[in-house]
Amino acid sequence: MDAPAPLIDPFARPITYLRVSVTDRCDFRCTYCMAEHMQFLPKKDLLTLEELDRLCSVFVRLGVRKLRVTGGEPLVRRNIMEFFRAMSRHLGQGLDELTLTTNGSQLARFAGELADCGVRRVNVSLDTLKDDRFARITRWGRLEQVMEGIAAATSAGLRVKINTVALKGFNEDELFPLLDWCATEGHDLTFIEVMPMGEMTEEQRLGQYWPLSDLNARIAERFSLTPLAERTGGPARYVRINETGQKVGFITPLTHNFCESCNRVRLTCTGELFMCLGQEDRADLRAALRASPSDADLSNAIREAITRKPKGHDFDYSRQHVSGQVSRYMSHTGG
Ligand code: 5AD
Ligand code: SF4
Repeated sequence: MDAPAPLIDPFARPITYLRVSVTDRCDFRCTYCMAEHMQFLPKKDLLTLEELDRLCSVFVRLGVRKLRVTGGEPLVRRNIMEFFRAMSRHLGQGLDELTLTTNGSQLARFAGELADCGVRRVNVSLDTLKDDRFARITRWGRLEQVMEGIAAATSAGLRVKINTVALKGFNEDELFPLLDWCATEGHDLTFIEVMPMGEMTEEQRLGQYWPLSDLNARIAERFSLTPLAERTGGPARYVRINETGQKVGFITPLTHNFCESCNRVRLTCTGELFMCLGQEDRADLRAALRASPSDADLSNAIREAITRKPKGHDFDYSRQHVSGQVSRYMSHTGG
């Protein structure tokens, strides 16, 4: 059978990257991500692992080459390794990369199996190297457990990329300790500008906003930097620290516009497809999935959704006020 036409959006961007949230639950409660007492979705609303398999497999058939499993915390979903195992059959058969973003809490348990499923790299969220701060920002997390998880990932042969949310007044003084630690351990490091997600007052929002332009300038005081041209179709920009060879990423959705090279869409754990992280428009793929056993109908629903992919987001922190804020939590759309 001929390969189906690839997914191309109205702005001629090929859609080759799917991020799929497999749960909205998490064993942490990071303050910028969740409220302490979250109302989670009823289990019946979630796609089953079989439905996730079917949906993701159709995306791969339509040209998705990279699949990132997210959450919430993906590794707290029951039997999630079955899903990784199922997706691993597409590696080399259309899919180039199977990966995940995790808080690291369950990595000690799963790193070996993930490597076995063909996962080569993991993104681990880590905002601080200090126990007390870690407990404060994650509310429920323990740094030691995450450190053990990261060590297990490294031993299993997984490349680790650390994602650090840059928070004014919280981890500003850990910029260099984090850089040093990652250099020593051989981990890549990306800083993320805090995004206006979830329920929070404007004051709280602006109070924690630490622009990455400033962070970049601070690194440049100590090291000489070479900007790198490479892009991953996403919001990240990279620089190389000439003195150490270390590559550092910056995710700046707010100060830089990256939308023109966007290659991705996001699937929530209930089967809603968000065509843009910063817009409310979505397509209900669960309905399409459950309406008919035909993958042709499902493909059509996906194609229809892609025709609605907007040109870009409307986040804007300028003029000292937050606009373009979307009210859902990051755990819903999976970062
Ligand atoms: N702004 C920026 N990053 C966020 N994350 C969660 N909430 C936010 C936010 N409001 C990050 C986590 C993790 C990834 C999944 O998303 O730290 O690295
Ligand atoms: Fe969990 Fe990640 Fe959200 Fe923290 S940022 S509460 S680890 S999903």
